[in-house]
Amino acid sequence: MENDRTTTAPSRLRAGFVGAGFMAEVHSRAARAAGAEIAGIASSSPSSAARAKDRLGAEQAYASVQDLIQDDGIDVIHVCTPNATHVAFAEAALKAGKHVVCEKPLATNVQDATHLVELAATARTVATVPFVYRFHPMVREAQARIASGQTGRISTIQGSYLQDWLLSRNDDNWRVDAGLGGPSRAFADIGSHLCDLLEFVSGDRIIRVGALSRTLFSGRAKHKDVQTEDLVAAVFATENGTVGSLLVSQVAPGRKNRLMIEISGSESTVQFDQESPETLWLGKRAGSQLLVRDPGALSPEAARLSVLPAGHPQGYQDAFNAFVADTYAAIDGELRAGLPTFRDGLRSAVLTESIVESSKCGEWVDVPGVNQLEGVQ
Ligand SMILES: NC(=O)c1ccc[n+]([C@@H]2O[C@H](COP(=O)([O-])OP(=O)(O)OC[C@H]3O[C@@H](n4cnc5c(N)ncnc54)[C@H](O)[C@@H]3O)[C@@H](O)[C@H]2O)c1
Repeated sequence: MENDRTTTAPSRLRAGFVGAGFMAEVHSRAARAAGAEIAGIASSSPSSAARAKDRLGAEQAYASVQDLIQDDGIDVIHVCTPNATHVAFAEAALKAGKHVVCEKPLATNVQDATHLVELAATARTVATVPFVYRFHPMVREAQARIASGQTGRISTIQGSYLQDWLLSRNDDNWRVDAGLGGPSRAFADIGSHLCDLLEFVSGDRIIRVGALSRTLFSGRAKHKDVQTEDLVAAVFATENGTVGSLLVSQVAPGRKNRLMIEISGSESTVQFDQESPETLWLGKRAGSQLLVRDPGALSPEAARLSVLPAGHPQGYQDAFNAFVADTYAAIDGELRAGLPTFRDGLRSAVLTESIVESSKCGEWVDVPGVNQLEGVQ
C-alpha cells in the first residue's frame, strides 16, 4: 500500500541542543528521525557537553550555550534544560534569528511567557513547545470525534496525571527547588501537559478554577525548605459551560506516567490513557467499545500520525518524533494541524498561575484568556 503519511520534514536542518539530560536525548532522536543533522550540543559545563556529544552522536560540543546559539551554522535550537533557564535561552535564540523548540513549562511566570510570545512574533521564526501527547494518533481520533459531534453535547471533562517518582522523602530532583523549577512543581511539570491535552481534545477552554494543593515533605534529600507542591486537585468551569475536575500527583504509588483524560457527552464518552496509547475507550449507554488503532479506520489526522500499521505499537517517542517533524515542516512553510506553539506555552503559564493563586487563597480564580494579555496578538 502506498504510504502518503506526512510525518517527516523535507529539509536537512541543523539542530542544536541545550542541556544533556533525558529530554536532550528524546529531542535528538526525534530530530534525527525528522531528517535533521545533530549539529551541536551545549550543557551546564563543557565536560557535560563533551560527554553528551558522543551519547547523542552530535557533530560538535560547544563550550557554552551562547557559543551554540550564536553559531550561524545552526538553524534550530532545542532548549532542554531546567525550567527557570528556558526564558533566557529561548530569548537569546530568538534574538539570534533561530527557530526554537523550548521545553515546557515555557517560562515559570506569565510575564516571561508573554515576553517570549512577543519576541517570537517579532522574530518571525517558528517557536514551539513539546506538548507531545497531542501527537498520539488516538488523541487525534478523540479530538476528531468530539469536533464532529459524535460524542454529542459535552457534559463533563476530567483528567489526571499521576506519577510516583517523588513518593519518598529521599526522592529529590532540581524540580523540587522553586528557584530552578519555578513556584509550581507538580502542576507546571505535568499538570501543564494534562490541561493542554484536555483543552486540545475538547476544543474548550478552562475559564475558572478552584484548586487545592499539598506538599507532603517540607524537606527532601538535598532540599531543606521545600515550597513546591507534590499534588494538586482542582475543579473547573469552561467557556462552553462544561464542568470538570483534575488530579495531578507525583506521589501516587505505582503510577509511573499515568496521563488520562475522559470527556463525556450526550452520546458517548471518550477516554485516552497515555500508558495504553494504542486504544481509545468509547463509552456508550449500551455497547461500550475499545477502539484499537488501525489507520484505515481512523480520522485523517489520526491516520496521518499512524506511522506504523495496525498491530505494531506506537508510543511516546513516536509522538515526540511527530511533534518535531511537524515543527520542522512549519520551518519549511508547511503548517500542520495541532502544532503547539509558544502561545500554548503561555496558555499553560496562565493556567499554572491561576491554579497556584486559587490553592493559596482558597477561592475560585478566573483564568484570563491569552488574548487578554497585553501585547499578545
Ligand atoms: N515534553 C515532555 O514530555 C517533557 C518530559 C520531561 C521533561 N520535560 C522538560 O524538559 C526539561 C528538561 O528536563 P530533563 O528531564 O531533561 O532534565 P534533566 O535533569 O535530565 O536534564 C537537564 C539538563 O540540563 C543541563 N543544565 C542544567 N542547568 C543548565 C544551564 N544553566 N545551562 C545549560 N545546561 C544546563 C543539565 O546539566 C542536564 O544535562 C524540563 O524543563 C522539563 O520540564 C519535558
